[in-house]
Amino acid sequence: MIIVNSVFDLRATIHTWKQDGLRVALVATMGNLHAGHLKLVNSAKQKADKVVVSIFVNPTQFGVNEDFASYPRTEQEDQLKLATENTDLLFLPAITDIYSANAKTTVNVSGLSDSYCGASRPGHFSGVATIVCKLFNLVQPDIAVFGLKDFQQFTVIKTMVNDLNIPIELMGVDTQRESNGLAMSSRNNYLTDSERQLAPQLYQTLCVAQTAILAGQQSYAAIEQQAIQTLKKAGFTPDYFTVCNSHDLSSATQQDKELVILAAAKLGTTRLIDNVYFSL
Ligand code: PAF
Repeated sequence: MIIVNSVFDLRATIHTWKQDGLRVALVATMGNLHAGHLKLVNSAKQKADKVVVSIFVNPTQFGVNEDFASYPRTEQEDQLKLATENTDLLFLPAITDIYSANAKTTVNVSGLSDSYCGASRPGHFSGVATIVCKLFNLVQPDIAVFGLKDFQQFTVIKTMVNDLNIPIELMGVDTQRESNGLAMSSRNNYLTDSERQLAPQLYQTLCVAQTAILAGQQSYAAIEQQAIQTLKKAGFTPDYFTVCNSHDLSSATQQDKELVILAAAKLGTTRLIDNVYFSL
């Protein structure tokens, strides 16, 4: 595995691969890698000759009172994991390699970025869209692979790629879960032991809602209310629990056949997100 820090070295290596006609995949991460990330790398390897993984804890997607400073940075362990997982190049830039002090341009996918997680985390998706757009320009991959646990993030990136005619194929990969159903996430490290026991109930509540819809229950508002009550009783502080059209994330109507249920809730100070998507 080649490890590069500079944009110059990154571009030089990818240039030689492209000259050899090789297909390049990008897996963008913020590090603290778990089995979910490694699944993205494996999926990327099946679709491309060369896999580039970036590790960059992107400051612009964190709000002022969020966990940018304390976000787990585990570079040594991450490198070992990637080296045994078929990664061809690890891009580890410094903040100054990515953001110049006088940068004036950001990418904002309007509307989609303001609801659900965007409502609680103003500016978050603009930070995500901007860094992903920059990484796309730096790596110029043929394909980019993202986890579907961050379903709204994937939808924002998909919309950006369509709107800006970015010539990159996107691939979404199913959420990797613990055996108890908890979606793997770097932020699970923040959970106390007792919170870890409760945390799988977020996914269980999503599955109950999905089952009700598949069984023909038509009042999505009632399903959402019931789920919020269940989560509160279990000890969560729910942020949202919404049945959506999985293409544009609008609130689902009876006409919609492709659905995603998006949920976010806090356990103590840790914000968890999860979703289930399915067809009727
Ligand atoms: O999903 C993440 O880890 C981040 O939001 C991403 C896509 C790497 C952008 O910083």
